[in-house]
Amino acid sequence: MAFNHISAAEAASLIKHGDNLGLSGFTPAGTAKAVTAELAKIAEAEHAKGNPFQVGIFTGASTGDSCDGVLSRAKAIRYRAPYTTNKDFRTAVNNGEIAYNDIHLSQMAQELRYGFMGKVDFAIIEACELTDDGKIYLTAAGGIAPTVCRLADRIIVELNAAHSKNAMGLHDVYEPLDPPYRREIPIYKPSDRIGQPYIQVDPHKIVAVVETDWPDEARSFAAPDPVTDQIGRNVADFLVRDMKRGIIPPTFLPLQSGVGNIANAVLNALGHDKTIPAFDVYTEVIQNAVIGLIRDGRVRFASGCSLTVTNDCLNDVYSGMDFFRDKLVLRPSEISNSPEVVRRLGVISINTAIEADIYGNVNSTHIGGTKMMNGIGGSGDFTRNAYISIFTCPSVAKEGKISAIVPMVSHSDHSEHDVNIVVTEQGVADLRGKSPKERAQLIIEHCAHPDYKDILRDYLRLTDGKAQTPHAIAAALGMHAELAKSGDMRNTDWSKYAR
Ligand code: COA
Repeated sequence: MAFNHISAAEAASLIKHGDNLGLSGFTPAGTAKAVTAELAKIAEAEHAKGNPFQVGIFTGASTGDSCDGVLSRAKAIRYRAPYTTNKDFRTAVNNGEIAYNDIHLSQMAQELRYGFMGKVDFAIIEACELTDDGKIYLTAAGGIAPTVCRLADRIIVELNAAHSKNAMGLHDVYEPLDPPYRREIPIYKPSDRIGQPYIQVDPHKIVAVVETDWPDEARSFAAPDPVTDQIGRNVADFLVRDMKRGIIPPTFLPLQSGVGNIANAVLNALGHDKTIPAFDVYTEVIQNAVIGLIRDGRVRFASGCSLTVTNDCLNDVYSGMDFFRDKLVLRPSEISNSPEVVRRLGVISINTAIEADIYGNVNSTHIGGTKMMNGIGGSGDFTRNAYISIFTCPSVAKEGKISAIVPMVSHSDHSEHDVNIVVTEQGVADLRGKSPKERAQLIIEHCAHPDYKDILRDYLRLTDGKAQTPHAIAAALGMHAELAKSGDMRNTDWSKYAR
């Protein structure tokens, strides 16, 4: 079938105020870019005329500036789900301008299918190839693309020449049935392929093909520093100890690691520790470190949802596809993050906390309990179902004025029931099999910064020390209150809360 090849501006003009858009991509990798960038201009023009113009955005995870950035600045987003990392979007959310639904990434596609978030009017999908009979070959991410293609009334394909056609074959596209017909997802090892390398759509739904040449808007991470390097070494040493004492099988288990510097440091430390055998990765975001470790033979196979790598690294993968083809697979997010598969494979999860409390509850999403940072991402999908769930973070933030270890988290994303291990640059608290009171001792003594150990020990003295989870309720957020008052948690004075 001959498709309607038009400009991004013409394609954007098909979208109307109130429409919901489902986008390909997961992180800036593989996200459609050109049409949303033009849509922001339309919204600005309509607003200048006094007309309302806002859309709903459904994505796999975060996007680049060409979606969340430009659309937030144009005040063109009414509703959005799920995870995002964009600064302008964050500002708009924390100013109350956008309805943001921060759900687990594995649930996004199924909640759209269940009808929880309304209709998908348009799917906007980045592709490296499109065939006349409606086979869409995705680029650097799986995300929710198969689901939004099926649910959408109309599909716009961004055929992006910046992605090599060598990306064809990277993907394993599989969409489960919904209850009561859902069966097991038949992945028994990270390298299992269970679907097709493309999305098959009804070609009549493709209303526009936009040709672009727009590289992924990958974020660059800050250079490693001594704190993140130490956290990486602490995690690697901990895992080696657990393998040597037989808790982790000698063949090792698949790893999931979150996004950012700490994740890169952990992977590098594990990759260089030759006492750990070459291992598999079952994760959502495949970062540069994993690609390097595949080349070095330290990672045998990586299953993920996106290649969130620098463009140099992405082009290396595309040009080295003969080498990578049997070592990499990209899946839709409901498969890469599937609780069922994560638990079956025995994935070891490593994610980042904003703060953790002395009992092991973790806040990954909110600053000061109220302001959204990014979102929960896939951290909950993996943590709740992991063989061993690990959270890492520096022990302090903002030059030591903020302790990441607090009596009670100001917002809770991962509960004490799911968090096994807390790691800072100070050390490792192994919470497995421990009661809350035992956990509090371990977290304070092994993870808190020396400036805060006494403050936390003194907090415990405010409690009766007997309850299952001792708290002095009025004082539990006292360190946060002190931060709000003086700007430094080190000034916390518990005497005003004394019993
Ligand atoms: N209180 C207040 N601010 C804090 C803080 C705390 N306890 N801890 C950190 N911050 C600040 C930092 O100072 C920094 O501020 P800046 O942007 O002004 O420099 C900011 O929060 C981010 O901290 P940083 O240490 O740079 O974090 P990061 O880039 O490693 O990201 C998360 C940490 C938790 C925000 C990030 O990992 C995330 O979004 N996680 C949730 C999703 C997830 O886990 N996804 C992976 C699943 S596979």
